[in-house]
Amino acid sequence: MRATCFGLLFLILYSVRGQDVNNETNLGENYKLLKLSEVCTCSEIPDVDGTHLVLNILCSELDRIENVADLDKIEWPPNPNGLKISAAFEGLGLTTIGKLPPNSQVESLRFSNNAIKTYWPDPFSDVPNLTKLSFAQNDLRTITPDLFTKIDRLEDLDLSYNKITDFNPLDFKHLRMVKRLNLQSNQLSKIPLEALLPMTALEDLDLSKNGIYDLLLQRTDGVGLSGLKRFYLNSNRIRSVTKHSFPIDNKLELLDLSNNLIEIIDEDAFYSCANLKELNLGQNNITLVFQLPPALQIAIFKINTFYHWPTFPGGIKYIDLSYNRLSALYDETNVNFETLEILKVGGNQIKNLDIQKSLPNLFILDISYNLFNEIPKTLSEQYFPNLEELRLDGNPIKSIYFNNVIVLKRLHMNDLDKLVKVDDKAFSNVVGRNEDEIEEESRCFYLYLSNCHSLNEIHVGAFEGTAVCMLDLSKNNLTNLPRDLLRWSSVREGVNLQHNPWRCTCHLQWMIDHLLPLLYNTNSSYLLDDLRCGSPRAYEHLRLVHWYNWTDRAMCSDGYLRAGPHDTYILEASTEGNPFNVSTMTLILSVCILVSVLVAVALTIYLIATRKRYRIRRAALKRKRQSAIDAKHTNGTEKEKFGAFNKT
Ligand SMILES: *[C@@H]1O[C@H](CO)[C@@H](O)[C@H](O)[C@H]1NC(C)=O
Ligand SMILES: *[C@@H]1O[C@H](CO)[C@@H](O)[C@H](O)[C@H]1NC(C)=O
Ligand SMILES: *[C@@H]1O[C@H](CO)[C@@H](O)[C@H](O)[C@H]1NC(C)=O
Ligand SMILES: *[C@@H]1O[C@H](CO)[C@@H](O)[C@H](O)[C@H]1NC(C)=O
Ligand SMILES: *[C@@H]1O[C@H](CO)[C@@H](O)[C@H](O)[C@H]1NC(C)=O
Ligand SMILES: *[C@@H]1O[C@H](CO)[C@@H](O)[C@H](O)[C@H]1NC(C)=O
Repeated sequence: MRATCFGLLFLILYSVRGQDVNNETNLGENYKLLKLSEVCTCSEIPDVDGTHLVLNILCSELDRIENVADLDKIEWPPNPNGLKISAAFEGLGLTTIGKLPPNSQVESLRFSNNAIKTYWPDPFSDVPNLTKLSFAQNDLRTITPDLFTKIDRLEDLDLSYNKITDFNPLDFKHLRMVKRLNLQSNQLSKIPLEALLPMTALEDLDLSKNGIYDLLLQRTDGVGLSGLKRFYLNSNRIRSVTKHSFPIDNKLELLDLSNNLIEIIDEDAFYSCANLKELNLGQNNITLVFQLPPALQIAIFKINTFYHWPTFPGGIKYIDLSYNRLSALYDETNVNFETLEILKVGGNQIKNLDIQKSLPNLFILDISYNLFNEIPKTLSEQYFPNLEELRLDGNPIKSIYFNNVIVLKRLHMNDLDKLVKVDDKAFSNVVGRNEDEIEEESRCFYLYLSNCHSLNEIHVGAFEGTAVCMLDLSKNNLTNLPRDLLRWSSVREGVNLQHNPWRCTCHLQWMIDHLLPLLYNTNSSYLLDDLRCGSPRAYEHLRLVHWYNWTDRAMCSDGYLRAGPHDTYILEASTEGNPFNVSTMTLILSVCILVSVLVAVALTIYLIATRKRYRIRRAALKRKRQSAIDAKHTNGTEKEKFGAFNKT
């Protein structure tokens, strides 16, 4: 199958009319073929809007291409309708880019995931309308100014995942229209400012995952990348942000500096960033606060060492200060959190939620893994009128009680190590928030109360007056659960009771009778996978689902050998606490007696048999002795005779 067709992926274009790609007779004589490999195939992916021809060339992973001809040997197929062409030469093992033949319809070229190291000069100078070009995942180490020539319309350039260490100041000289440049995952040690300056239209710049140690977007003379709107510099080695980092009147809207080594941020570092809306400084080592830009809406400052709250501008919507060293809540006199929608301060050392002003737009509040030892009294509808999600996980809460009414969709209370018991009316003041439910009594909330290792009791009245849509009580230390805790049939998203040491006695029979059928017949049946008994011993690790559909009350029986519904499962039931009951003992005893009797009988038979043989032997011996004595009294011939007889 030395089919050469595939080679010229552009020929696919020709086969758009629906003929077999492999049928060479269809290709005509005008088209020169690009030989790729015997196992390569071409495909054409129809695009949605019918304005583009999308070409794809695929080769098997096993067969690396040996003789990839230069790209200038290909010929573009006719394109009478003047459709724009997108072509992908991906994963072909290409090492060199040749010069592409002229075509003004080519709009997008992708050479991603090859091994490109070198290229001919001006390879794209004859595809002048190219707007999108990707070299992602190749082996480029350096770029020269003759790579990107005469593609003045290029808007999108992807050089990510290469090995580029530096740029020549003239490399991007002609790329004045480029809006998006991706240099992620290269080996740059500084921002290639001189090379980037000719890209005056540049808005999106991704320099993440390099080794950049200095944040500088302007030259000493003040000329800089002032048109940049979105700048990704995460996962580098930056240590500080100074007021010289950004050019005056820059247009930055998003700045991602997460996962660097930043310790110092100048008080006025963001002075010139008047448009900055989203700032990510997560996973650094920032201790001291600094002035935040006035338009800031999203502030991600998690995993740092802040001791104090920065002063957030009015208009802030999203604050993430999780995993810092905060010991108190914000100072209300200084802030305006009218617009705040999400507040995350998990993983700090906050003890109190003493607030006077309400947070009218807050819908997510995360105060997990702090030092709250009770449910804060300010958690109420009054202060949080629009709350949907509340996270209280990992606090040293000993007792649950919501003093005031709070309306919620989801309540997270996992990892409460100090919680032993859930008291009467614990959740009575939590009301579900379902906008679509008109009737108040059908409102319910999702409760996650999981992984509380000491929790071993839930009062029957814990949910009095309220309703849950989903209850997660997995991974606690529960042995029993009151049947009347909830109206189980109305918990529509399932009840997760797995990984608890349930005590499978008559008290829990209701689970088999009522809960099991509810869970079994819905999408929640996975919640039965690890719903197991923890005691008594005979039932340990046994899944409750084994009793599903039993006609008699399995857990209440006083114990005989039983069979499952279809004789599939046999279980030795037992009375409480004592794994060896009367019937088992009787059985064991009977077996013992039987065995003893058998042994005795065998022994007797053996003894009788041996005795008989002994008697015969004795008689023989006696006779022998007698004959010997007789022989002494007779003559020698008789003696010899006796000897001969004896020998035989
Ligand atoms: C090529 O296509 C023609 C019709 O277009 C058909 O008659 C011929 O059998 C095909 N050849 C092969 C090898 O498929
Ligand atoms: C392609 O570029 C030529 C000039 O090189 C221009 O005249 C033509 O309109 C462009 N075509 C498209 C589809 O952009
Ligand atoms: C963070 O800064 C402190 C001093 O402020 C230093 O002791 C610590 O090693 C730094 N941590 C990291 C990960 O750089
Ligand atoms: C779980 O409960 C049992 C008694 O039912 C108790 O002995 C054990 O210590 C409890 N585990 C924890 C972690 O509190
Ligand atoms: C189960 O899930 C499917 C799809 O996830 C959904 O269409 C269906 O309504 C669900 N059934 C029940 C009883 O919840
Ligand atoms: C359980 O019993 C019901 C009716 O008694 C029957 O329809 C169903 O198939 C049974 N399920 C199993 C798993 O035996």
